[in-house]
Amino acid sequence: MTTPDTTKSETQSQAETIDFGFREVARADKQGLVRGVFDAVADKYDVMNDVMSGGLHRLWKARMIDALYMRPKARLRLVDVAGGTGDIALRAHARAQKLGTALDAHIIDANAEMMKAGRQRQAVQSQGEHMHFTTGIAEQLPLPDASADMLTIAFGIRNVTDRAAALQEAHRVLRPGGRFVCLEFSHMPSAVLQKAYDAYSFNLIPPMGALVAGERAAYQYLVESIRRFPTANAFLGELEAAGFARAEAQLLSGGIAALHMGWRL
Ligand SMILES: C[S@@+](CC[C@H](N)C(=O)[O-])C[C@H]1O[C@@H](n2cnc3c(N)ncnc32)[C@H](O)[C@@H]1O
Repeated sequence: MTTPDTTKSETQSQAETIDFGFREVARADKQGLVRGVFDAVADKYDVMNDVMSGGLHRLWKARMIDALYMRPKARLRLVDVAGGTGDIALRAHARAQKLGTALDAHIIDANAEMMKAGRQRQAVQSQGEHMHFTTGIAEQLPLPDASADMLTIAFGIRNVTDRAAALQEAHRVLRPGGRFVCLEFSHMPSAVLQKAYDAYSFNLIPPMGALVAGERAAYQYLVESIRRFPTANAFLGELEAAGFARAEAQLLSGGIAALHMGWRL
C-alpha cells in the first residue's frame, strides 16, 4: 500500500488538479465524483457509520456538540454544512432541548439523496419546521451574512473542492461571537498506531462497504481521502487564514479523528 504524503496543507485554490482519494482529477470534476460516492451510499450511510467505527462516531459527535458551548438563548441558529442525513443537527437539537432552548437547524448539503435519507428519519420528522434541508455547496452557502450562532461541518470538509472558500463562507455566515466546529478524520501522532489503523482501514473498510452497502469503491475513496486530508495543525493554519480566532484542535481516539474549532470575532 502506498500512501501519498499530502498531510501538509496545500494552496488548493490555485492548482488545476485536485485529489480525489489517491487519484488526481481535474478540479471541475471533483464535486461530481464526490456526489457519485454519496448517491451510492445514501441509503446505508447511517448504519455504515456504526459498522465502520464500531459506534465511535457517536462519541466523536457528542464531543463536537460539547465543543459548541451552547448556552440558553431565545432561539439558537445552527448551520450544519455537509449535514447529510441530519445527524449533527439532531444531536444539537437534543442538547438544546436539555438546556430548555429552541434551536433552528439549517442543513446544507451538496447531495439531495443524502438529505432525502435524512428527511425519512423519524427523529428528523418529529422536529418539524426546526430542521431545514437545503441543497447547496460549502463554498457558496445560500445564507445571509452573520445569520448563524454556530456552524458545524462533520466529515464534510475533506470532500470539498475549495477548502479556503468553504472556510471563508463559514466565517461570513457566523455572527460575531459565533462558534465554528469542524469534525474530521485526522492522523495519529503515534507511527505504530497509525500503521495498525492503516492496516485496518485499507484491508477491512472497503470489503465491509462491499458487504453491507454493496459499495466497495465508495469506501475505498473514504479511506484514501482520509489520508489526503491535512494534519490537525496544518488545517488550523487554514482556519486562521480564513479569519477564525483562537483556533484550536483536539485529537479524538488517538488522532483517528479531530475537532477543529474557532470563533468568529
Ligand atoms: C461523510 S458525509 C457526512 C454527513 C454528516 N455530516 C455526518 O457526519 O453524518 C459527507 C457529506 O458531505 C457532503 N458534501 C460533499 N461535498 C460537499 C460540498 N462541497 N458542499 C456541501 N456538502 C458537501 C456530501 O454530500 C455528504 O452528505
